[in-house]
Amino acid sequence: MSIKLQTKYLKNFIRDEECKGIAPLISAAHNTLESRNGLGSDFLGWVTLPTDYDKEEFARIKAAAEKIKKTCDVLIVIGIGGSYLGARAAIEFLKSPLYNNIPKDTPDIFFVGNSINPAYLNDVIKICEGKDICVNVISKSGTTTEPALAFRIFKQMLEKKYGKDGAKERIFATTDKAKGTLKELSDTEGYETFVVPDDVGGRFSVLTAVGLLPIAAAGCDIDKLMEGARKAQNAYSKDDNNDCYKYAAIRNILARKGKTVEMLVSYDPAFTMMGEWFKQLFGESEGKDNKGIFPASATFSTDLHSLGQFIQDGSKEIFETVVDFAKPKTDLWLEDDEANLDGLNFLTNQNMSVVNKKAFQGTVLAHTEGGVPNIIIEVENSDEENLGELIYFFEKAVAISGYMMGVNPFNQPGVESYKKNMFALLGKPGYESAKAELEAKLSAE
Ligand code: PA5
Repeated sequence: MSIKLQTKYLKNFIRDEECKGIAPLISAAHNTLESRNGLGSDFLGWVTLPTDYDKEEFARIKAAAEKIKKTCDVLIVIGIGGSYLGARAAIEFLKSPLYNNIPKDTPDIFFVGNSINPAYLNDVIKICEGKDICVNVISKSGTTTEPALAFRIFKQMLEKKYGKDGAKERIFATTDKAKGTLKELSDTEGYETFVVPDDVGGRFSVLTAVGLLPIAAAGCDIDKLMEGARKAQNAYSKDDNNDCYKYAAIRNILARKGKTVEMLVSYDPAFTMMGEWFKQLFGESEGKDNKGIFPASATFSTDLHSLGQFIQDGSKEIFETVVDFAKPKTDLWLEDDEANLDGLNFLTNQNMSVVNKKAFQGTVLAHTEGGVPNIIIEVENSDEENLGELIYFFEKAVAISGYMMGVNPFNQPGVESYKKNMFALLGKPGYESAKAELEAKLSAE
């Protein structure tokens, strides 16, 4: 495996005995997952997805990605939550957070439908002027308001530009295989469709067409991504104290000691969106029934200059999980400066990645001395295979961890509350009585 769990910075926080003590809970969670009889067991498709996926559809995804690369300058990816974060995170991590700004032979990619902010959408619409566009609209339910609103706008834009027949060649829909408004609309309009399997929830869907089509369109190798996930599926299939299960155990031990905020840290800005993906995966899976570890994320050393003070010195609920990449994607060589006015000549003949590594080492020592436990996930490098491993590592870990906490890791009942209120306030038919009640609350002093 390219991923290794490093626990040496936990010595002052967790005793070996505690790990032994929690082992029966890990075994119970493993058995529940394996026997598929636990809470949310209708949503376990992701467990075997890396080996058991639709090969015919996988080939169509690659063909669609090639078509997108050939026919458009800009790919608009429409989706929110699990239908957005994985693809964006993977593309930024594998390519660059500056993907749209660097020279390349793949289209620029803009993600919309992940907010309702009109200014952002207007900016993307302006960028599209005079460009050839394709759209990948993604929604498992096919009814989510944010992407549906954005799709309405881009569908009209494409139909105006290319005509109905031309537009349908440029619109790709990823949704349920049989039901939902988006599926009906796609069938009516004749769009090519890809499937979000019934038994794979949104936040576990990055290795389905949801993530794979945009990732492939960005020029990433999705075969390698699946290969890495396959390795992880195999490595974490048994209750044998593997690193994934150990990670789940450690976070549960820490949470029981009041460490209820987990900050996922990396020293690579390209990993920032992976932090967002992680927050959804862990937040929606564990945060229920008044339980859960609050998932946060940070990019260091950037955030050491904002959050660093709090982590080092503030209240002590936080533990950090640092994803440390052994090899940098590229490097910079620091040369001598004769005047040395900045006083940095002590770094002459040094790689910038070495400076970054020292920042990591210095921080881990400072933070652990400040009472912040640090779990380190060592990853060999930043390629597709390693990312596939990492995605599966976190998915399996949160499932085990959620079962250890006694929650259903695969539902998200809390997400519905704001939607009901929003629909009522907007006057959606069927929400009339709630509308009056909510408006009264809003106007109350
Ligand atoms: O994890 C989830 O299920 C949610 O966050 C969804 O991904 C999000 O609400 C988008 O849903 P949909 O794909 O149905 O539009």
